Order: sequence, then C-alpha cells, then structure tokens
Amino acid sequence: MKTILVTGGCGFIGSNFIRYTLAAESGMRIVNFDALTYAGNLENLKGVLDGQRLIFVRGDIRDKTAVSGLFNKYDFDCVINFAAESHVDRSFADPELFCQTNVGGVVNLLNAAKEFWREGKGFKAGKRFLQISTDEVYGSLGKEGSFSENSPLDPHSPYSAGKASADLFVKAYFDTYGLPCLITRCSNNFGPRQFPEKLIPLVFNNACALRPVPIYGDGLQVRDWLYVSDHCAAIEAVLAKGGLGQVYNIGGHNEKTNLEIVRAVIGYVGQNINPKAGDNLITHVADRPGHDRRCAVDSAKIQSELGWRPQTTFEKGLAATLDWYKNNPEWLKNATSGKYKAYYEKMYLNR
Ligand code: NAD
Ligand code: TYD
Repeated sequence: MKTILVTGGCGFIGSNFIRYTLAAESGMRIVNFDALTYAGNLENLKGVLDGQRLIFVRGDIRDKTAVSGLFNKYDFDCVINFAAESHVDRSFADPELFCQTNVGGVVNLLNAAKEFWREGKGFKAGKRFLQISTDEVYGSLGKEGSFSENSPLDPHSPYSAGKASADLFVKAYFDTYGLPCLITRCSNNFGPRQFPEKLIPLVFNNACALRPVPIYGDGLQVRDWLYVSDHCAAIEAVLAKGGLGQVYNIGGHNEKTNLEIVRAVIGYVGQNINPKAGDNLITHVADRPGHDRRCAVDSAKIQSELGWRPQTTFEKGLAATLDWYKNNPEWLKNATSGKYKAYYEKMYLNR
C-alpha cells in the first residue's frame, strides 16, 4: 500500500483532494500534516478521517523536527504539498509569514525528502514530490494569449512571489540533487469548503445577509476558473504519470470577469435563498495593489501528455458549489464567526 504525505489537507483544495482520492483509490494511505491555521478546518474531513486510510497529524511545515520525525515514522512514497498561506490580500499585511511558510516551509519539506529518500548516490525508486503552485507566478496578461509553462515568472504580490520562489527551489532540488520533483500551476479554483475570504464564498455569504458585495476596482479583471474536482483529477494524473522535473499548467479554459462571477453568485442567492439579493449590492471599493488584470493558462501540455481535461462546466460547478454552501450553513457560520469579523473589518472598512 502506498503512503502519501499530504500537507495542508485541512484547507480547501487539500481536503477536496483527500476526499477525491479516498473515494477513488483503495490502495492508498494518506498522512495529512496540517498546522490548522485560520484556513485549516478538521470539519473539512468529517466522515473520512478514520485513522487508518487517513491519518491526521497536526504540525507546521516550517518545523524541521516535526517534519523529520514524520519522514522517519512513515516511509512516504510521495509528498503533495498543498500547505501555504493562500490569500493574496493577507500577504500585503504580513509578507514575512508568506515567505516563511510558502518558501521556508517548502525548503524544509524538500530537505526532508532529500535526506530520507536518499539511496546510494541517488534516490529510492518511485518517490515523487509534487509542489502545488499557482498560475499567479506568471503575473498578468494583456487582452490576448495565455501562459505556457515556459512563460517567465513575474509575480506581483508577496503571495505569488513566495510561490514563485518555492517553484525555483523545487527546480533547483531537481537540477542539483536529482530529487524527483514535479510542479503544477493551476488557475483559480472554486468548489465546496473554500474559506470565505475568497471571492465566491465571500460574495455568497454577503449576498445572503444583504451586505454590500465588494468588487475591487472596475471588476473587469479576468480569472480562469476551474472546478476543484477537476484540479484534483489533474493532480492525480501528474502524480501518477507526470515527467520528473516537469511543470504542468492546469486551467479551466473558462475566463470570466470578476463582475460576471459576482453577478452569477448574487443571481443564485436571489433565486434560492434571499429574493431581495440583487446587483444593487455590488459596491466598488479600492482596487487591490498590483492587481493582476488577466490570468489564463494554456493547459495543452497536461492535455496532450497526460490526457487530462476539465469535466465540469462552469455552470454545473457553480451550482454544485453554491448548493454546498446553502446546505452547510453551520460550516459557513463557524468559518465567519470569531476572528473573521475582525479580519473583514480590517480588510474592507474604510476601503
Ligand atoms: P487554504 O488556505 O484553503 O488551505 C491551506 C492549508 O494549509 C490550511 O489547511 C492550513 O491550515 C495549512 N497550512 C498553512 N500554513 C501551514 C504550515 N505552516 N504548516 C502546515 N500547514 C499549513 O488554501 P487552498 O486554497 O486549499 O490552496 C492550497 C494550495 O493550492 C496552496 O499551495 C495554494 O497556493 C495553491 N493554489 C490555490 C488555488 C486556489 O484557487 N485556491 C489556485 C492555485 C493554487
Ligand atoms: P481571490 O478569490 O482572492 O483569488 P486570487 O486573488 O487568488 O485570484 O480573488 C479573485 C478575484 O476577485 C481577484 O481578481 C480579486 C477579486 N476580489 C474582489 O473583487 N473582491 C473581493 O472581496 C475579493 C476577495 C476578491
């Protein structure tokens, strides 16, 4: 039986990936190592955390002793690193934390893999280290085109600068030590269990309560949205069949302006939850500094090499996402109580 280390498996994408993998694959044991920051939530694994196929260990990827202890205890076949500080807006207030987690934490994991996977002059057969990265490392596009894996790195926020730095460390560990590494760079995900600091769940939550829905700047920024289970399928394909040392872009071929997204979410809330919710809630606020105007990736490489393509239309994925939030009001309530209120006021009041 294969044992996989999943870091950050209590967050949005990590928890969806664990659920996806356990549902599909029987011969796999997952150790989920997560610090349970504000974004990590054990509720995300309710019903699947059985202590056998899925083991939870609370810990920090920055903690060398804890990470070594974990590698010592389990002979991991693979590592998938989801753990990160993931929110661009928060990275403006605390770039150091983003550097420590998103760069230092990754180097720490790479070092442990390098140490524990070594055999003779190389590494034990079959080991794979997959770093989950983002299309934001490429920066911003004009009106046309999309980023390929060979596009230059041009990050604009402390978040994306950290992710780009980590990618370069992963590349360096492959180039200099031959550590069996891979990188995926995915566009914006949406789906169940996304923390309501991100656009779609934040708009849903505000619209339900008839609170103003903040749009940064003119709202004509473009993102390429991918349903989270399609991202999980891509990760599974790269882990199983991706070429070592390779980068794979993952995108939805589904570009939308932020205004289009916000109107679609408010439309759902108006129809299904609160008939008073309407576009009059949309409130333009100060733009995000260094805001990427348009992001889109070319996924031709993963499509042709690994046969992956997105399966979920935007409409179907959005309905499933918003149905999930509608049917899990306790989850949303827990996520937006306590410290969230202070965060929201700091981020949006006087903007
Ligand atoms: P998230 O913020 O929902 O979850 C992050 C998880 O990492 C949480 O469970 C948190 O507790 C954990 N974590 C944070 N710091 C940690 C540390 N020091 N040690 C151990 N665990 C720690 O993030 P997400 O949206 O699920 O993103 C997961 C990964 O995917 C990130 O690396 C992110 O950069 C990348 N990504 C996200 C998107 C997106 O649209 N959300 C798109 C492309 C790539
Ligand atoms: P977000 O969900 O934070 O993801 P990312 O920054 O990783 O793309 O933001 C998606 C887009 O929505 C981005 O262009 C910023 C914009 N946005 C708003 O206009 N208002 C908001 O309140 C938030 C959270 C985001």
